[in-house]
Amino acid sequence: MIDHIHQWFRLTPSFSPKLVHFMKRITNTTKNHKVLEPFLGASTTVIECMKEGIDCVGIDINPVFVKVGQVAIQWDLDVDNLRRTNKEILKKYHESIIGIDKLDLLNFCNKFNVEIPKIHKPEKWWRDDVLKRILLIKKFIYELENERVKHFFYVGLISKVVDVANVNRSHPTLTFCDRSKDKIDVESEIFSKFEVMIKDIENAKTIINPGKAQVVEGDSTNISELKLLYDKFDRVFTSPPYPNRYSYVWETRPQLYFGDIFDKPSQAADLDIKTIGGTWGKATSNLAKGIEKPINAEVGKIMDSVCAEIRQKDNLMANYVMKFFNLLYLQIKEMKKHLNDEAMCCYVVGNSRIKDVEIYTDILLADLFFSLGYTIPKIVRIRKRIGRRKLYEAIVIAKK
Ligand SMILES: C[S@@+](CC[C@H](N)C(=O)[O-])C[C@H]1O[C@@H](n2cnc3c(N)ncnc32)[C@H](O)[C@@H]1O
Repeated sequence: MIDHIHQWFRLTPSFSPKLVHFMKRITNTTKNHKVLEPFLGASTTVIECMKEGIDCVGIDINPVFVKVGQVAIQWDLDVDNLRRTNKEILKKYHESIIGIDKLDLLNFCNKFNVEIPKIHKPEKWWRDDVLKRILLIKKFIYELENERVKHFFYVGLISKVVDVANVNRSHPTLTFCDRSKDKIDVESEIFSKFEVMIKDIENAKTIINPGKAQVVEGDSTNISELKLLYDKFDRVFTSPPYPNRYSYVWETRPQLYFGDIFDKPSQAADLDIKTIGGTWGKATSNLAKGIEKPINAEVGKIMDSVCAEIRQKDNLMANYVMKFFNLLYLQIKEMKKHLNDEAMCCYVVGNSRIKDVEIYTDILLADLFFSLGYTIPKIVRIRKRIGRRKLYEAIVIAKK
């Protein structure tokens, strides 16, 4: 089942492969169309397009999603080589693991020349015995010579570090829990993940003539700065963050730091400020100050009344909502330059309730598109969000 490639990285707010097919159908997408996914996340759109022989480019501002996506499209990797390498890493791991529990963490790091990830309070994230084991696996992955093979195993490992951490995986957001008495079988968790991924690549090879794919790190409010495979696109299938204060950067801290993407605590907070919907640390203290203005009169017409209603109760949240829609406006404005005439965009969005004020994201986004000269052939409500009264998701379809 090639659908498994979507599950390499567990991202709760991601849409299903079925939804991509639905968007493809309602927009009469063919193999001649080029698809853009400006909010890549778990790469669902890119992988589905590849399977269907459609060329697709995905962009994300968060390097974790980009690293995973870049490997998820490498269907030409040599699976025999991957299997051989998997065995070699396992062998080295078995040879080194003897006696490591007798060493304290610092002596362990000195002996194996590895470093504790620069995340805030690493001891809260991983038990010492677990951290030593994942650091050993990382060391042997880093020693691999073939860059593509190294990248493959690196992605497998960073996708799994949360499952062996002291966090509760049944929540959509990360919360710490006591796992001191749990049996955490690092070897089986990590190496079975590698095996599944290798099998997925093997299955992907059965797809004849997959579409061309590219995954790029960057800010979708500034597409022109990026070196993309194509300058213009015919379709956009995407799901931006929702205005619900969910922070993708916050949720990916273990991977960002364990994977050595960041080495200073401030870097995650700085990235969060740049993301759409970024909401913690500095992003929040910035939003607590002053009044976030609409970036122009058009956005003001659409957002002023809803933000004024929230502001009566909470200035920070009013600023949050205004900033969210300001950035979304910039994104669809910037994107227009990169769309062919008649291009169709499908944006899956969820509404939310902030301080008891309903944020009808679908309607507001449709208004933003309209103000930029797009037409809106349809808004399709797709589902009610579980357990939340009146919350729903919708696909806003906009045409250039
Ligand atoms: C709802 S998720 C995308 C889910 C994706 N469609 C899927 O199915 O997995 C939103 C994504 O937008 C990304 N993002 C937020 N602000 C961005 C920006 N300015 N430019 C590019 N990506 C951004 C986040 O990092 C996150 O991965």
